[in-house]
Order: sequence, then structure tokens, then C-alpha cells
Amino acid sequence: MHSITITQFLLEEQRKEGNVTGEFTLLLNDIVTACKRISCAVNKGALVGTMGSLDSENIQGETQKQLDVITNDIFLEANQWAGYIAGMASEEMDDPYDIPEKYKQDGKYLLLFDPLDGSSNVNVNISVGTIFSILRSPEGVSHPKAADFLQPGTSQVCAGYALYGSSTMLVLTTGRGVNGFTLDREVGEFYLTNPEMQIPSDTQEFAINMSNQRFWDAPVQRYVSECLQGEQGVRGKDFNMRWVASMVAEVHRILIRGGLFMYPIDSKLRDKGGKLRLMYEANPMSMIVEQAGGASSTGFERILDMVPNALHQRVPVIMGSKNEVEVLVSYHKK
Ligand code: AHG
Ligand code: MN
Ligand code: MN
Repeated sequence: MHSITITQFLLEEQRKEGNVTGEFTLLLNDIVTACKRISCAVNKGALVGTMGSLDSENIQGETQKQLDVITNDIFLEANQWAGYIAGMASEEMDDPYDIPEKYKQDGKYLLLFDPLDGSSNVNVNISVGTIFSILRSPEGVSHPKAADFLQPGTSQVCAGYALYGSSTMLVLTTGRGVNGFTLDREVGEFYLTNPEMQIPSDTQEFAINMSNQRFWDAPVQRYVSECLQGEQGVRGKDFNMRWVASMVAEVHRILIRGGLFMYPIDSKLRDKGGKLRLMYEANPMSMIVEQAGGASSTGFERILDMVPNALHQRVPVIMGSKNEVEVLVSYHKK
């Protein structure tokens, strides 16, 4: 029987650190509430008529789905009122969201999020997720600007994701390992089901969008072709491949059974710097992956060490089982 709720788990973790205010637990509780609401919104599917696209585009020039906007609003609403958060930024908003004056209480934290990751999958009933990252708000800043959010991934105090799959899960780290919780819908609580998640260091499974192959650079060409050669090739083993097109689902699979996830730079993406966004996709996922014993790199540098230059900055991403990340990084050095 799984009996430890996420709230109990977080409070006990805080006590171990001698932090008895419970403030951080309360902050996370609001995020948990937002994820439960998003889980319901996504789960209702076509019943509530929110499966379509809108006429609007986000700052990245992507057509917004109805649910991109609905889930963004859910996150803002759930997290703005308690006074812990000084500002929020998201994939779906050009600029940071300023907390309304009536709720302002010198919040200590900044919250970044991708409210609906993998949203191209939402109307085909394939897993989607929410990704979030928590940073400290710089001292004395009451109306955080984009520049205040531009802290390296190593400064994150917490990172997590919710996966709306065959069950809804919340996976998070506060820098002391990675723990997974499963939503019991009848009770309405997340229970600890996957304590101390660890990514196996070796794997025979990789994930990449193969349709971009003709645009890839030499190191990725070499890596994938060697995987495809299987047992007869230089790697001496057969590889399996997966591509869900939801980073959350992809990383979750890797946390459970290992694997390598790649959204590398390619000639088509060169001007943009990559596909995935650093602040609310690559950084939180990198923190989770590293905390679970995996590795995360652009191919040339550790993602968590990058000094961000823009809120919606994009980066190449190579993450997952440590030994496999090392192989591909070594090909970038040659
Ligand atoms: P989002 O839905 O938040 O824009 O993110 C989608 C991302 C990521 O989740 C996924 O790995 C990737 O885009 C899929 O890209 P392709 O459609 O190019 O495969
Ligand atoms: Mn995303
Ligand atoms: Mn998204």
C-alpha cells in the first residue's frame, strides 16, 4: 500500500534540512493543485470541446492549442495568490507575468513552466505533460523582469514534471534525488510510488525524430548510424528506438528504464539555436536527469552550466543514460 502523500514527503524532507516553516511545501502544494486541474482538463478530452487550435501564435511562432492557453491560465491562477512567488514565466507568454498587486508579498521564488508539453499530441490522445522550474528571486526585486529569470540551471531549487499518461504522475527533485508520485483520482492525492528514481547508466534505446536526419550534424549522424548497425556494427549490440514527441513522456521512460533522448542542433534549426527551450524544458529536465544519475549536454557543454541570454532561448539537448551521453559527447569533441 502506498501511504505517503506528496505533502507528507515534502514536509519530512524539509524537516531533515532543519527548515520548519513549511513555506516551500505550501508553494509546491499550489503547483500540485495546478497539475491536478490540468490532468482533469486534459482527461476530459473532446467531451468539453477544447481539442482544437487557436488562431494565435506564441512567441516562438507556434500555433497555440486551446489547451496550451487553458493550462497556462490554470498554472497562473493556482500559483499567483499565496505570496511565495515573485514572478512567473512560461512558454505561452512573451514576457514574465507580474503578480497582481493584491497578492504581492515579497515572494522569494520565481516559477518557470511549460504548461502543456507535447501539445501536438493532445488531440490524438497521446501522453502530454507539464514541466516546471523554481529559482530564487533576486534580493530586493519586487517586479521581476526577464533578466531576473536568466539564471543558470545549477541555480534551480526545484524542478519537476507532471505526466498525463495512462496514469497521472508527478516527478520532482529539490536537489536530493528524484521521487515519483502517482495520482489516486478517487482520493485526489499524489502518493509516493517511485522513490529515489535512478537512470540505468547503460542503455540500448534511443529517441530522436528521424525525419530530421538529413539536417543533422556529423556527430549525431555517426552516433545514430552506429546504433542502427546493431550487433554487427562497432557498438556490438542492437538498439531499439522510440519517439513520442512529448519530451515529458520521453524523459519519464528514460527515468524508468534508461535510454538516450536527443533533440540536437541541425542545419534547419541552426539560426534558432535548437528546438527545445532552455529555461522551462531543458533546464528542469536536466536537473531531474542528473539527480537521477543520468547526464545532460548540448553535445559541447553541460546544459545546467549554460548562462542563459534570453527567456525563450533554445538549446540542443542530449540527455539520459550516462554512458550513452558520454559516447555522443565524445563524438562532438572529435
Ligand atoms: P511543446 O508541445 O511544449 O511545444 O513541446 C514539444 C517539444 C517536445 O516535447 C518534443 O520532444 C518535441 O517538441 C517534438 O518535436 P517534433 O514535433 O519536431 O518531433
Ligand atoms: Mn514543451
Ligand atoms: Mn508547451
